Amino acid sequence: MSPPRKLHIKSYGCQMNVYDAQRMVDALTPEGFVETANVDDADLVILNTCHIREKASEKVYSELGRLRVARDEAASHGRRMQIAVAGCVAQAEGEEIIRRAPVVDVVVGPQSYHNLPQLLARADRDGRALETEFPIDDKFGVLPQPAPDAIRARGISAFVTAQEGCDKFCTFCVVPYTRGAEMSRPVAAIVEDVKRLAENGVREITLIGQNVNAYHGDGPDGRAWSLGRLVRRLAEIPGIVRLRYSTSHPNDVDEDLLAAHRDLPALMPFVHLPVQSGSDRILAAMNRKHTADDYRRVIDRFRSASAVIAFSSDFIVGFPGETERDFSATLALVAQIGYAGAYSFKYSPRPGTPAADMPEMVPAAVMDERLERLQQLIDQQQSAFNKAAIGRTVEVLFERAGRKPGQIVGRTAYLQPAHVMAPDSIIGQVLPVRVDSLERYSLLGELASATSRPADAMAATGA
Ligand code: SAH
Ligand code: SF4
Ligand code: F3S
Repeated sequence: MSPPRKLHIKSYGCQMNVYDAQRMVDALTPEGFVETANVDDADLVILNTCHIREKASEKVYSELGRLRVARDEAASHGRRMQIAVAGCVAQAEGEEIIRRAPVVDVVVGPQSYHNLPQLLARADRDGRALETEFPIDDKFGVLPQPAPDAIRARGISAFVTAQEGCDKFCTFCVVPYTRGAEMSRPVAAIVEDVKRLAENGVREITLIGQNVNAYHGDGPDGRAWSLGRLVRRLAEIPGIVRLRYSTSHPNDVDEDLLAAHRDLPALMPFVHLPVQSGSDRILAAMNRKHTADDYRRVIDRFRSASAVIAFSSDFIVGFPGETERDFSATLALVAQIGYAGAYSFKYSPRPGTPAADMPEMVPAAVMDERLERLQQLIDQQQSAFNKAAIGRTVEVLFERAGRKPGQIVGRTAYLQPAHVMAPDSIIGQVLPVRVDSLERYSLLGELASATSRPADAMAATGA
């Protein structure tokens, strides 16, 4: 047998990219590849790229410059290093990468990872290979499956793709172009994946998709199932104790999803619901197709379904034409909703998107200053949310050993890291933790005594 070839994947971008990196490993494992953490050792380096903002996108070329040096160094020792570019920059700028970066052997778009072995062989034969076609019918028919030991090595929390692509065409966003049209996987395929994960020790599933609550996959009854219905089915699978989904769009929140939050203890009361701006004028220019009040109403509906629900969001500051008044509306919305956390970004014009041609760019200094003010407000809210856990008993799903000896780390329903001193055997269990302090973003505490009633623990998780 030939020795294993070493594979190093560097991922940027969203959860879907993190998950895709695992899919690439799964596609290459049967070819005799094993992962290495050391890029200089690798026989194949894959850059799994993100196109969402200019900064993310431009990283690719500087990274390729560094890889050229590593490749030449390997070559001087008689070892060949192949270099592939995957992800959303590959999809959006594949031809340009081939032109600009002779060091690249393979360019592969997100819909073609199952073809990686063939593409590597093609690059061997023809020098280079590029594949960025979108499949016409089924994006998901050919997902490589992880081996049981790979599932176990990845831990007790796993991502599963429910949906991919986006038909919303927000005017600032590249995702509809890089991930293509919105498609949902059939219910049966997702159920099968989740069962296999659960059988190999996974306890928490996060369903992912660019617009995961637009899910409308074929159900076993021949009808399209909503995300709420899918989640209800997954909650029945033995071993699955927590379910999450990300990312949601405010316009796709339906009664099924709210009912799932009302009825299912396994569905975590923490929802990432990006709004981008609090100004109706800017929301319209962004083609969001909802107003700030529509968004407030969606939040209210979630809150009536579950009293303990908390939210995070994404914001863009400095969208073309954004005035101080528009920005104040964003601050007002944040102040009113009260988030457990949020991401905020400066607007970055993306080639090919409608907003890139809009006049009235907001000056960089103004963007900086607005971002700073928004982040300050969000930080205050996040730290108030975290502080509120002190003195309470919260449910924690334990995931892995911590950095200190004897320490075990888990997460609360709201994804806050929580640390306790306890035996390894608690990994994989949900247990009540009495929180006594906060260290940066992590909750520190101890396992609550067995006498604490679960009802107390439930009530205490409230925001
Ligand atoms: N629905 C998607 C959103 C992907 S992009 C999902 O699956 O998460 C994540 C966030 O990046 C967006 O919500 C938006 O806030 C931000 N973003 C997208 N395009 C941007 C741009 N051109 N400039 C700045 N931020 C952007
Ligand atoms: Fe991008 Fe808008 Fe689609 Fe989200 S909903 S992926 S921001 S186009
Ligand atoms: Fe980036 Fe593509 Fe995700 S552009 S955010 S990696 S869908």
